[in-house]
Amino acid sequence: MELRVALGLALLCSALEAAPAGPQRARSAVGQFWHVSDLHLDPTYHITPDRSKVCSSSKGANASNPGPFGDFLCDSPYQLILSAFEFMKDSKEQVSFMIWTGDSPPHVPVKELSTKLVISIIGNLSSTIRNFFPDLQVFPALGNHDYWPQDQLPVTTSEVYNAVADFWKPWLSDEAINTFRKGGFYTQLFESSNSHQALRIISLNTNLYYSPNSVTVNITDPANQFAWLEEILETSSQKKEKVYIIGHVPVGYLPYARNTTAIREYYNERLVKIFRRYSSVIAGQFFGHTHRDSIMVLLDEEEKPVNSLFVAPAVTPVKDVWQMESNNPGVRLYQYDLLDYSLLDLWQFYLDLRDANEKNESNWKLEYILTKTYGIEDLKPESLHEMAKQLSMPHSTLFEQYYSNYIVSYDKTILCEEGCKTCQVCAIRYLDYSSYTDCINQEAMWR
Ligand SMILES: *[C@@H]1O[C@H](CO)[C@@H](O)[C@H](O)[C@H]1NC(C)=O
Ligand SMILES: *[C@@H]1O[C@H](CO)[C@@H](O)[C@H](O)[C@H]1NC(C)=O
Ligand SMILES: *[C@@H]1O[C@H](CO)[C@@H](O)[C@H](O)[C@H]1NC(C)=O
Ligand SMILES: *[C@@H]1O[C@H](CO)[C@@H](O)[C@H](O)[C@H]1NC(C)=O
Ligand SMILES: *[C@@H]1O[C@H](CO)[C@@H](O)[C@H](O)[C@H]1NC(C)=O
Ligand SMILES: [Zn+2]
Ligand SMILES: [Zn+2]
Repeated sequence: MELRVALGLALLCSALEAAPAGPQRARSAVGQFWHVSDLHLDPTYHITPDRSKVCSSSKGANASNPGPFGDFLCDSPYQLILSAFEFMKDSKEQVSFMIWTGDSPPHVPVKELSTKLVISIIGNLSSTIRNFFPDLQVFPALGNHDYWPQDQLPVTTSEVYNAVADFWKPWLSDEAINTFRKGGFYTQLFESSNSHQALRIISLNTNLYYSPNSVTVNITDPANQFAWLEEILETSSQKKEKVYIIGHVPVGYLPYARNTTAIREYYNERLVKIFRRYSSVIAGQFFGHTHRDSIMVLLDEEEKPVNSLFVAPAVTPVKDVWQMESNNPGVRLYQYDLLDYSLLDLWQFYLDLRDANEKNESNWKLEYILTKTYGIEDLKPESLHEMAKQLSMPHSTLFEQYYSNYIVSYDKTILCEEGCKTCQVCAIRYLDYSSYTDCINQEAMWR
C-alpha cells in the first residue's frame, strides 16, 4: 500500500512539474466547449417555514437545509440555473460550442406535469441559454424527463418533438430539425476554420432504449435509429470526418448498481458493437442522466482502448430522501485538439451548495482538472485506460479522489469500498455483457 501511494504521488508530481520546467512539447492549438446536463428546473421552489412545501420535487419530504440556491432534496430553483450560466458567461472562456444533454423538467409525480408544462419548461431553459449566449452554437439532446409521461419517448413524431424542434431551430440545420421531428435525434456538422477535417455531432435519442420506456418494448430498432446511426458513421468514415456522440442516457453499465445497464441489455450490446466498429471515427462520447461524474473507456475485442466516454454531473443537486449520496451542482469545460478533435482535458467546475446558501452568494469554482488530478497526458483512450488501471488497484488513493469527484465533492467522508468499488471499476472498462460479467466475477481483485 505504501508503495502504491508513493507511486500515485510521483505520477502527480511529475505531471505538475513537467509543464513549466521541461522543454515545451509541440502542442497544437486548443479548442474548448462547455457541457451542461440535467438542469431539472423546479418552478415551485421557494423558501417557506413549512419545509415539506419548499419544492414539489421533494415529494412531501422536508427540505433539508433550503437556501436561495436550492436544497439537496429539491430540483434546481431558477436562481441556481441562472448562477450556473452567469458563471460560465463571466468566466470569459473562449468556447466553440456547448453541448446540453437534456432533462429539463423536475422529478415530480407524473400527474403534477403535463405535455404543456414539459414543453414550457424545455422552452424556458432553451430561451434562458440563448439569452446568456446569443451567438453560441448549442448542440442539445433530449432526456428521459423531456417528455410526458416521463420516459415514454415515442418512435414517431409527437407534440413534444415538434415543439422542441421549434425551440432548437436557431441552433440546428433544416435537415437536423427534420430527423428530430420524426425521432428526437439528429446529426449536424460543426464548421470550423481551424481544421481541414470536419467535426460531426451525432445527438442520439438513447431514451428510446431506456429500460422504463414501454413504447419500445420488443422493437428491435426503435425509430430506425440504429440503421440511421450506422449509415451516418459509415459516411463519416468515408469522408474522413470526426464524430462526437452526445446523448442523455449513457451506454454501458451503471457505476452505482451491480450488473445493471441504463439502457436495455439488447440495445446496449448493439450500441457497443456499433461504437467498436466505428471507433476510429468517434473522437469522444458525452452523456448525462446519472447526475454523477464518471468516465468509461471502450475496449475492443482484444482489450485495446478505442474510445473515451464521459458522463457529466448534473446541475440539479436533488437526491431522494433515502439516498446517502447526492452531488453538488456542476458544469464542465472540455479542451480538444483543434486539428483532429481528440480530447485533451476537462475542467470540472462546481458550486458548493451548502456554502452558497450560507453566504447567499454563488461562488462557482474549479473542482479539478482531469489530467492533473489523475496524472495522465490527455483524455485519449490509451490515457484513460492507464487511469482506469490505476483506479482499479487495491487501496488506490486515486480511486478515493475519483469517488469524491463522482459525487462532485458532496461529502468527503463517504467512502466507496468492497462491492461499491467493484461496481465502479468494472463499469469504467467493461461496457458489454461478457467482459463486464468477467470483471464482476473477479471481484476480489479490485479491493
Ligand atoms: C423561466 O421560469 C422562471 C420561473 O421558474 C421565470 O422566472 C423566468 O422568467 C422564465 N424564463 C424564461 C426565459 O422564460
Ligand atoms: C417535517 O418537519 C415537521 C417539523 O419539524 C415535522 O412535524 C414533520 O413530521 C416533518 N415531515 C416529514 C414528512 O418528515
Ligand atoms: C414482447 O414479447 C414477449 C415475448 O414474445 C411477449 O410475451 C410480450 O407480450 C411482448 N410485449 C409487448 C408489449 O408487446
Ligand atoms: C446479470 O443480469 C443478467 C440480466 O439481467 C442476468 O441474466 C445475469 O444472470 C446476471 N448476472 C449476474 C452475475 O448476476
Ligand atoms: C441574498 O442576496 C440578494 C441579492 O444578491 C438579496 O436580494 C437577498 O435579499 C439576499 N437574501 C438574504 C436572505 O439575505
Ligand atoms: Zn436527470
Ligand atoms: Zn435522465
